[in-house]
Order: sequence, then structure tokens, then C-alpha cells
Amino acid sequence: MKTFPLEPIEKASVAELRALQLKRLQATLIHAYLHSPVYRAKFDAAGVLPSDCNSLEDLAKFPFTTKADLRDAYPFGMFAVPRERCVRIHASSGTTGKPTVVGYTQNDIDTWSNLVARSIRASGARPGDMVHVSYGYGLFTGGLGGHYGAEKLGLTVVPFGGGQTERQVQLIMDFKPTIIMVTPSYMLAIADELERQGIDPRSTSLRIGIFGAEPWTNDMRLSIEQRLNISAVDIYGLSEVMGPGVANECAETKDGPTIWEDHFYPEIIHPDTGEVLPYDPAKGTEQGELVFTSLTKEALPIIRYRTRDLTKLLPGTARPMRRMQKITGRSDDMMIVRGVNVFPSQIEELILKQPALSAHYQCVLAKDGPMDALTVKVEVAAGGVASSAAAKAAGQAVQHAMKTYIGTSAHVQVLDIGSIERSMGKAKRVLDLRNTP
Ligand code: DLL
Repeated sequence: MKTFPLEPIEKASVAELRALQLKRLQATLIHAYLHSPVYRAKFDAAGVLPSDCNSLEDLAKFPFTTKADLRDAYPFGMFAVPRERCVRIHASSGTTGKPTVVGYTQNDIDTWSNLVARSIRASGARPGDMVHVSYGYGLFTGGLGGHYGAEKLGLTVVPFGGGQTERQVQLIMDFKPTIIMVTPSYMLAIADELERQGIDPRSTSLRIGIFGAEPWTNDMRLSIEQRLNISAVDIYGLSEVMGPGVANECAETKDGPTIWEDHFYPEIIHPDTGEVLPYDPAKGTEQGELVFTSLTKEALPIIRYRTRDLTKLLPGTARPMRRMQKITGRSDDMMIVRGVNVFPSQIEELILKQPALSAHYQCVLAKDGPMDALTVKVEVAAGGVASSAAAKAAGQAVQHAMKTYIGTSAHVQVLDIGSIERSMGKAKRVLDLRNTP
């Protein structure tokens, strides 16, 4: 069977990789300092110069960049090239206020396309594959990012975008794509629609699903793999750093996304103190907040960007580059329920252990007098009804398991199929009504 070859850097030694990173890091710091007034002001305020970086560890001397920095520089103030040199703009919608705007030179687009191509290849793509892209097109980086990567690899792209689930199914059945790129939650909606149309989701032409843009657990992976008879791999990225393809799981190991470290230098910091957590070559780091520095970006070099994503670095397995543990939460998603920290992913794991329940769920936070009250809404599995004894027992079991394993009291409400709003992109797992009158 024909396969795509690896790039030389994917076979390099760790020492070669570190040398390349240092060279590129030094060039990036100089570029940012010389060409972006925002970075110059930040470095000056911190009393550091690009010449202070003589080792990868020296990066810790440099100040962090946050979403607020990008917002303050809205729209193009952080760019390190004249706007005219940008061939593309993307933006993240953001829940409040102004979006964060990012720009790309032609070289940046080429790098990004190559990295998404590398990601799709790592996911198990073969020459001749057809890729159905259901990530949203537009300012969101998912659709166009996936699209350019798949084209770069020489695959056939179906640029569907999000929504119109019925038509998605029709085209999947008619065109027979072998790869789908979509959020895991929208994959479930597509699977539901296949079933609604009387099609066995295991019977489609799809072989690989490249899922990301939102947290999803390994239990969700197994559930999707079994339901659709595909191999499900994790793609990670964020617009501020580039878009999808900052990291991607390798099909042969499926043990957390490999970070494409020749282009992005990762650090894990303590979320409160900002201190860099030590990396042990045998074990990796403790869990903390993921921070990225771009090593090759031109339009918007990003220095020590605080992602708010919580994970740990792990040693490389399929590649010399390090991996990140599959992300199970963002600090923004963490619910504090009567003092106990709870992530939606912890609840997802408990729900997926119940065959009578589906993977469609939402956590609703409200006030019960002065106390926080958490309700977990979850739909019954296909073919079930919420009022059945089996569904009620499954709900009770999740409620009990939450108390036992997470330490939080919650009310688990089992609902009929279709009761929870379907997302066409990122699922909204937490609905916080505590400040809503
Ligand atoms: O979500 C880029 C992307 C598109 C990634 C398509 C993968 C596939 P943003 O909209 O800027 O960019 O959101 C970035 O989404 O900080 C994470 O919190 C979350 N995220 C992205 N990928 C994953 C993943 C795109 N594989 C934010 N697992 C990030 C968990 C993810 N969370």
C-alpha cells in the first residue's frame, strides 16, 4: 500500500531538533523586537533583549503574551510586518468584546499548510484519500486550515464547512470520502443524522476522523471509533499560534498530540505563579498551563503565549518531538461547584461508561439560594427513551459516580434525543446561569 514519506525533521535526533529550535527562537525574538512595537515595549519593560537568549531555557526570562495583549492591539497592532504583506487574516470570535485578529504572510500560509499536511499524514492518510472538511470556513481557522493542508498533501478536498447536516450526510454517502475533519461533537450530530436516515454509521466510506477544536476524552474517542468504525485522532491548535495543526496525534500510537516542535516551542507553567515546570526526559512535566512560542512565524510572531489549556508535556514516541497529553480542559471551562473544581471532561467520562446514555451532554450551573447548583443534562442513547427504567438508572449511576469520584453533588437529568442543542462547531459544554437574573 502506498504511503507518504516522513519529512527529515520527523526522523531527526532530539539534539538536532533542539539546535534548530534555538536558532529559530533567537531569530524570532530579534524579529519581534525589531518589527513589533508591542513586543519591543514588553521586552523593554521586562528589561530583556533578544541577545539575552543563549539557550532554550533562557526563554523563561521573556514576558508572556496573553489574549488581552492581542485585544489591546486590535486589529493589527501586534503584527511584525506591514499589513500589506499579509495575504490572510483570521479572527477568533471570542465570547466577549473584540475578537482577536491574526495575520499571515505567504510564507506563514505555506508553513501552516505544510504542518496541516503533516498532521493529516500523521493521522494515517494515504495517497488518493478524499477529505470531507466540516470545520467552519471563514474567520475561524478550522475550515481553511484543514483545506489548505489536505490540498498540500495532494488529497481531494470537499470544502463543506459546518451545518446543513442532512446534506453533509448525502455528500458523504455520494462522494465517499475516506477522511473527515470536524469537531468531535459535530461528528456525533452527523452520526445521529446517518441513523435517522436509516444508514448504519459503521457502513460509510470514512476510515479516519481528525477531530479537534474542543476538548474530548479518550472515552469519547472509543465511543466514536466504535460507532463509526473509523480511527479517531486528535488535532490541536489555536488561532493565536497559527490554527489547527500546531500538534497532531500519530496514528501508530494515538497517545496524545505530537507538537510540531520545529515550529512551536512549548512550555508548561504553573497557572498561578507563571513558573516553568521542569521537564524530565523520561516522564515529561507535571500538569500546568500550556505556553507556546512560534519559531518561524513572520506576520505575527507569538512569544510565550498563554493558551489557558491545561495539560502536560510528554516525551516523544512516534516522533522526536514531544507530545502533549490530550487536553481535557481549559482553565476557562473549569466549574467551581461549592468549592470543588470540576471539568466537563470528567463528567463526560462517567456518562460514556453508561450504555443507556448518549455523548450529547451539557452542564448547567445555577444558583440554589446562595449555593451553586449543577445540573448535568444528558440525552438517552439512540433508540432509548428518557422515561425508561434503564435511562433513569443510568442517570442515577452518573449522579452517584460524580459524588464518589469527583466529589460534587449534581442533579443528572436524562432527556430524550434531540433535547440538547446541537453545535455545528465547538460544543458549549457549560452553561453558566449563576449571574443571570
Ligand atoms: O480551534 C483551531 C482548530 C481548528 C484546532 C480545528 C483543531 C481543529 P481557536 O478557535 O482559536 O482555534 O480555539 C483554540 O480550542 O486553546 C483549545 O482550548 C481548544 N482546542 C483546539 N484543539 C483542541 C483539541 C481552533 N484537539 C482553543 N483538544 C484551544 C482540546 C482543543 N481542545
